[in-house]
Amino acid sequence: MDVHVSPASRAEYQTLVTGMALPVGTWVAKFHRDDKTGNPGPVFAMHKTRDGWEYLVAEATGAVQERGALDLCQRCHSEGVADQLFGLGRRRPSRDAGTD
Ligand code: HEC
Repeated sequence: MDVHVSPASRAEYQTLVTGMALPVGTWVAKFHRDDKTGNPGPVFAMHKTRDGWEYLVAEATGAVQERGALDLCQRCHSEGVADQLFGLGRRRPSRDAGTD
């Protein structure tokens, strides 16, 4: 999969740590790809509005199938690193660093 982030929020997304929140207007889109065929799959996206995140599901063609405060998405993403986002995972504290 590929993750695309609107330019103004890219740096913040790349260094996402607990406690951060991305600005209103931010777009984050996750493009899936079939492992075997390489064909593009569904697109999952998040758009930050004044009322919080709007979740979107689109076909590979870009046709939006569902959008809104989608329950399924929110339930899982409420456990994200920060601001309902999981980020790239590079900055997550390591559980086996030996420092306890
Ligand atoms: C089972 C838990 C789960 C559900 C349900 C889920 N996600 Fe995610 N999502 C994740 C995880 C974990 C990541 C981090 C990247 C990865 O490991 O795939 C992620 C990453 C993302 C990202 C990249 C931004 C980020 O968080 O860093 C977007 C956009 C996204 N998901 C959208 C959606 C949408 C839209 C839905 C609902 C259709 C959804 N997700 C449902 C777990 C979930």
